[in-house]
Amino acid sequence: MQLKALIIGINGQDGSYLAEYLLSINYDVVGTIRRNSVSENQTNRIEHIKERLSLEYADLTDITSIISVIKEHEPDEIYNLGAQSHVQVSFKQPIQTINADALGVLNLLEAVRLINKSIKIYQASSSEMFGNSIDTDGFQRETTSMMPVSPYGCSKVFAYNICNNYKNAYGMFICNGILFNHESPRRGSNFVTSKVVNTAVDILKGVKSSLVLGNLYASRDWGHAKDYVKAMHLIMQLDNPDNFVCATGETHTVKDLVDYVFNKLEIGIELVSIENKYKRPEELNLLKGDPSKLKEKTGWEQEYNFYTMLDEMIENRL
Ligand code: NAP
Ligand code: GDD
Repeated sequence: MQLKALIIGINGQDGSYLAEYLLSINYDVVGTIRRNSVSENQTNRIEHIKERLSLEYADLTDITSIISVIKEHEPDEIYNLGAQSHVQVSFKQPIQTINADALGVLNLLEAVRLINKSIKIYQASSSEMFGNSIDTDGFQRETTSMMPVSPYGCSKVFAYNICNNYKNAYGMFICNGILFNHESPRRGSNFVTSKVVNTAVDILKGVKSSLVLGNLYASRDWGHAKDYVKAMHLIMQLDNPDNFVCATGETHTVKDLVDYVFNKLEIGIELVSIENKYKRPEELNLLKGDPSKLKEKTGWEQEYNFYTMLDEMIENRL
């Protein structure tokens, strides 16, 4: 029997890769998009597969739109990837972030509970939920306490908890994927990997003359989005719903990232400067995830590492 998946936020970085992957394994794929005044931007990451998808307008903050899509398409699995996903922006628009990323998830859970409790749900949880909490061995894992340091992180903790609550209270199949940073050529240009790669290539081409960043000494566990969407699907195929960290287990500073990209393109590091406006009011200092549980329970393996992920981003931009 062909399975049907609904992807909320299908035109995002992850939504586009997940849609491609699910089509490749014969899913019927429905996705939600949002109105944009430049209509081409509504589907710019999924243009190449658009004919094979069913697309609907919906917004997590508008429960009627979520109900309509679920009733019309009757999906077997829902992947909630919709969110205001930028941490820095969440300090500028905290209420909008909480409406979409926290209350929006509750809207989705209520819609599914009332329409058909047997629909499986994947929630895009985040390593930002840990804040500066680290286990004594230097890793974050499923049992690490959550002490978020941004409105975005706080909203994701609410969503994570309410998903666990609905799973336990109503016997629903709801999984949290606690994904660490993952990037790709489709990454939004205001996230640090894209910003560094795009600006470095522009400097090489003579289009720009410098790169201005914020905190160079924060560390992140960076993987590739293509690997991580496969983990989302694997998690949803288990017999019982559960929560999983997805990460590479390696950490690098923003400075490491800049050094690698600039060295590879043979650009002088003196073209990088710092401005406080790119620093966060409160910073998450270090992320390093332990994906052992995911690997053990699903057999997940990553194909890319930090360097091959960046190589692909550079190659794509040149
Ligand atoms: P992204 O590129 O920013 O995509 C987010 C998607 O959500 C976009 O399609 C966006 O639509 C949509 N969206 C925003 N607000 C919405 C709302 N109120 N209702 C419905 N859809 C909405 O983010 P991503 O990198 O693909 O991440 C996917 C999910 O994983 C997000 O929930 C993010 O918070 C989470 N996550 C990401 C990472 C990471 O490193 N990438 C790590 C952990 C967790 P528009 O384009 O119209 O704004
Ligand atoms: N965006 C950005 N721009 N970040 C900068 C800059 C800059 O100019 N300069 C330094 N940084 C630092 C940030 O302070 C942060 O420590 C690090 O680079 C990574 O920033 P982002 O790429 O914006 O990602 P993030 O870690 O804040 O959030 C991403 O990962 C989360 C998972 O941990 C997002 O994808 C979230 O949606 C995701 O949940």
